[in-house]
Amino acid sequence: MIRIGVLVSGSGSNLQSIMDACDRGEIDGEVAIVISNIDGVYALTRAKKNAVPTRVIDHKQYPDRNIFDEQIRKTLEEYQVDLVALAGFMRVLTPEFLESFPGRVINIHPALLPSFPGLGVRQKAIDHGVRFSGCTVHFVDAGVDTGPIIIQAVVPVYPDDTEDELKDRLLKLEHRIYPKAIQLFSQGALEIVGRKVFVRNGRKDDSLCLINPPLDN
Ligand code: GRF
Repeated sequence: MIRIGVLVSGSGSNLQSIMDACDRGEIDGEVAIVISNIDGVYALTRAKKNAVPTRVIDHKQYPDRNIFDEQIRKTLEEYQVDLVALAGFMRVLTPEFLESFPGRVINIHPALLPSFPGLGVRQKAIDHGVRFSGCTVHFVDAGVDTGPIIIQAVVPVYPDDTEDELKDRLLKLEHRIYPKAIQLFSQGALEIVGRKVFVRNGRKDDSLCLINPPLDN
């Protein structure tokens, strides 16, 4: 049974998918604490509805990133978390923070990394004219969206997509792959070797293939 600390800044739909997967017993664990850097966000309401403790740690109240991160670290340690899951958390964590939780901080990003790291990436993918984008769950390292990749899911992108259409398409998959990645972590099934993540008993399927626009034959 792992204890998960979830860091949020917004609506918390990924947080919801994690809490739901814990409730269904798909993750051998529980969300022990939800920390938001912004007060009043819906993620906090979701946590309270699930009877999960919450804490607001407002980055604007701290003179620098180190002191802000230190406050987050202390809170996570107070709740004895085994895993830190970033779910729409809009701050970059310091290397010092990450060293406190080696191999135990993960993030979900709404693009197929290493393409489109950073912010505003759905619109960037549409503007670039890519035929596919996706979402990525990865371990967090000191870079921005650069850590070892655990799981990815792919969606088509159409030239006339709006950002909201692509966002909805992606979120449906985010809500499947983030709990799955945490399930694998909770089972001790993930091994980081350099840049790669090996999944114990991971299946291979050479027939996996997507073509967009679809071929008629
Ligand atoms: C998601 O698109 C996620 O990929 C990104 O931030 C968004 C968070 O959405 N990291 P929500 O707060 O989980 O609804």
